[in-house]
Amino acid sequence: MTTQEKMIPNKPIALIGFRGSGKTSVARAVADLLGGGVIDTDDLVTARAGKSIADVFMDEGESVFRRFESEAIAGTVENPPTVISVGGGAVLDSANVRALREVCFVVWLTAPAEVLWQRIAADPASEVSRPSLTSDNGLDEVRAVLAERKDLYRSAAHATIDTEGSPITDIAREIITLATSDA
Ligand code: S3P
Repeated sequence: MTTQEKMIPNKPIALIGFRGSGKTSVARAVADLLGGGVIDTDDLVTARAGKSIADVFMDEGESVFRRFESEAIAGTVENPPTVISVGGGAVLDSANVRALREVCFVVWLTAPAEVLWQRIAADPASEVSRPSLTSDNGLDEVRAVLAERKDLYRSAAHATIDTEGSPITDIAREIITLATSDA
């Protein structure tokens, strides 16, 4: 058995961060290493709404999406899996942040705006899961929204990890190490 296999985090792990920060892939890698499960709050919203996030935004508006997202987070922390991958805008609601911090070790995954935008543009899922958040487009939107949210991510997180240029498994191992040493 390796040292890594013996590491058992004290709490569930919640991954926060902007679109394209790698939450979904890193969450799967952490859960695989720990032999646990993952819940993605975007998937819960999609299942509840019975339609894509883009369609929820278009038909009901962002505020309804945010309500579904808050309800998904509140439900998930009651019976948390090993890892929760949290939608990028969840930090806008302080009740979401409180609920996550009370139960989970919260990790902010970061990358420069240019890298986030490259990943978003390359991800085929973006079209249905990442509707526009502003009247800007592309990199301009990423820069503007990230600037608005940076402090929220920072204060919501127990730890921050830069994902630029690091293999997903290395990031996952680092998260497990941090979560295991968290008192
Ligand atoms: C959003 C991020 C998306 C999704 C929705 C809103 C945001 O999740 O929840 O499109 O406001 O940043 P990901 O961060 O998983 O892409």
